[in-house]
Amino acid sequence: MLIAIASDHGGYELKEKVKEHLRDRGEKIVDLGTTSEGSVDYPIYGKACAEAVASGKAEKGIVICGTGIGISIAANKIKGIRCGLCTSVEMAELTRAHNDANMLAMGGRTTAPDLAMKIVDAFLDTGFEGGRHQRRTDMLDEM
Ligand code: RB5
Repeated sequence: MLIAIASDHGGYELKEKVKEHLRDRGEKIVDLGTTSEGSVDYPIYGKACAEAVASGKAEKGIVICGTGIGISIAANKIKGIRCGLCTSVEMAELTRAHNDANMLAMGGRTTAPDLAMKIVDAFLDTGFEGGRHQRRTDMLDEM
């Protein structure tokens, strides 16, 4: 799977760890920045990653800022994006199963790396349930 990944400075350290984990899983990665812990603006990176997913260049996207909040808000402004901010494995499973999320957001300052890798695995390994959830994601996509 080709996965686009991006962060601001608050998510940079975790992004680098997530990249390592994705490589170990055998995934292909496109890293859209940032490239250091120097201060940057999260909307730029949320938008870049979301556009990679919305255009079909990447199948899934992972975005990380300090809390995951700002960068998920940015990603969700791009049409076709359903970005779930997850702080637990259960949330990651449910955002795939119920929301058919095509992007995952996490907080580099709020989620420990060990848990973050489990969240990534749950996000990538869980399928969409469809059924009644399809109607709801269709409604989201109409907005
Ligand atoms: C940057 O300091 C911080 O505001 C950002 O990483 C994020 O947490 C915003 O939601």
